Order: sequence, then C-alpha cells, then structure tokens
Amino acid sequence: MTEHDPHAVLTIGDFAARAGVATSAVRYYESLGLVASVRTGGNQRRYRRAELRRVAFVRAAQSVGLSLDEVKDALDRLPGKRVPDRADWLRLSAEWRRRLEGEIARLKDLQEDLDGCVGCGCLSLEKCAVYNLGDKLAADGPGPQRGFKTA
Ligand code: FES
Repeated sequence: MTEHDPHAVLTIGDFAARAGVATSAVRYYESLGLVASVRTGGNQRRYRRAELRRVAFVRAAQSVGLSLDEVKDALDRLPGKRVPDRADWLRLSAEWRRRLEGEIARLKDLQEDLDGCVGCGCLSLEKCAVYNLGDKLAADGPGPQRGFKTA
C-alpha cells in the first residue's frame, strides 16, 4: 500500500486530521451514512482513504448552503453509492450554483425591503415587506386577512 492508495485504511484520528474535521464530525457523518468505515478484527473503525473525498464533498456542499439531508441525497444517487469523482462534483456544483444564484437574488430583494424598514419599526403585517415576506396573506384575497371574519 502506498501513501495515496485509495484502499489504504486510516484510524479515525488520522482520517479526521487528513479531512480537516473533528473525530466527532466523522462519527456524525458516519451515523448519517455520509461516510463509511470498515472494522478491524478487534472491531475498531478504519476509513478507506477514498472516503476522504466524501468528507470533502460534504464540506464543500455545506459551504454552499446544502443541508446534510440534501448532501446525503446527492451521494445516495451516485451509482453504487461510489465516492464522488470530478465529473460528479462538476455536475452537482453547476446545479448548486443555480440554486446559490437564486438565493443571492432573494437576499438582495430582502436587503431592499429591509432598507424600507430602516427608521420605521412598524412591523406592520400590511406595510412591512420583511415581516410579511412574500405577502403570505395575499393568496387569501384583497384587504386585511387577519382578525375576525364573518362566515
Ligand atoms: S418595519 Fe416598517 S416597513 Fe418594515
């Protein structure tokens, strides 16, 4: 086995150090099925070097705002649940880029709405676009939708 042999196995401490995460994070990721270990004859965890790429994938996906459930879903969709390769990352990161662009646009809109709140403080359901994000009551009809309604 060489230093870069993907089938080489590491202790949890070595694996965590190489992945740049705490051992508790490795155990947590494993409990969620994001990384896998093998067991020694003495029932100790060992991690294949190739699993380091899964941790990198998880961390990168989290950096762009994906939840661990979404990351797991992406990893579970890989054929044979293999370790994500360069092509997988390119494909998924392109999808996530579009999502990030949508989130940036939403935050810019929110920032503009918040500008209207500066110096106001009303937090009015009717007037404040930040309090009433997306005008949640608009679908119920025109005019005030809170308070007593007659049947
Ligand atoms: S607090 Fe008055 S408009 Fe938002």
